[in-house]
Amino acid sequence: MTSVRKTVILTGASRGIGHATVKRFSLEGWRIITCSRETVPEECKRDPNWTHHISADLGDSEDLDQFIAEANVLLDGGPLHALVNNAAVSPKTPFKERLGCLNGDVAAWRDVFELNLFAPLGLARGFATALHRGKGVIVNITSIAGHAIHPFAGSAYSTSKAALSALTRELAVEFASLGVRVNAVAPGEIETGMIGPEYEALIPRIPMHRMGKPEEVAAAVFQLCGADFGYVTGTEIFVTGGQHLY
Ligand SMILES: NC(=O)c1ccc[n+]([C@@H]2O[C@H](COP(=O)([O-])OP(=O)(O)OC[C@H]3O[C@@H](n4cnc5c(N)ncnc54)[C@H](OP(=O)(O)O)[C@@H]3O)[C@@H](O)[C@H]2O)c1
Repeated sequence: MTSVRKTVILTGASRGIGHATVKRFSLEGWRIITCSRETVPEECKRDPNWTHHISADLGDSEDLDQFIAEANVLLDGGPLHALVNNAAVSPKTPFKERLGCLNGDVAAWRDVFELNLFAPLGLARGFATALHRGKGVIVNITSIAGHAIHPFAGSAYSTSKAALSALTRELAVEFASLGVRVNAVAPGEIETGMIGPEYEALIPRIPMHRMGKPEEVAAAVFQLCGADFGYVTGTEIFVTGGQHLY
């Protein structure tokens, strides 16, 4: 019996956690369709599993719809086995000042929510039929900052991630009847472009006394998409080295 090659759609593939996650799925032989605003690094274009990268700004509703339409054409009526909602933005002031509730532009909150919350909702809807066909899995990348005050993450980012954690539960219940599982992975401090040198000060607050690597988040995402987690839905896995326990 030949095994069916599985397909994953992942947002925010050009760098960081998304890029590491694509590499993990590719290593496991999955076919990969991705998007981000930038193109992907040159060497990745030679990856035979990473068949399609579509440039799109998912914070823009027209681009979002266009991406969903193009990716569904690529799926060609076939199944989708995983959707990883990874792309997000965490705005900072030019002086790395924390953007709280009293400073910053309220319109900027809407931009953060467009990408961090409404895009995952739109993508879940847009790929619901294909996910149903594949008895697939959605993994939302949330954050430790959605669960407690974080010294550097801004309020718009943190509340958008808290809302994404809540959306994960809502989707899990509704998508269960489609045969689709929905879970979240909440990273702590992970070595990517999203964090700066000021984050080094947080290491004493991490029980494992180190930052995480993008590959460690990628591994949790990948495992959630496998059959061993077939009875797991509506949950959130903390990849934080224990930081969320404080
Ligand atoms: N790093 C951490 O410590 C940490 C901690 C907690 C949670 N997280 C979460 O983990 C996820 C990945 O974070 P990361 O650190 O890997 O971030 P990153 O290095 O900043 O990468 C973000 C990715 O999202 C894409 N992206 C940004 N805006 C986009 C848009 N408008 N439309 C489409 N794609 C867009 C970026 O590509 P383009 O710029 O090319 O569009 C990039 O590929 C995010 O959800 C983040 O909130 C990260």
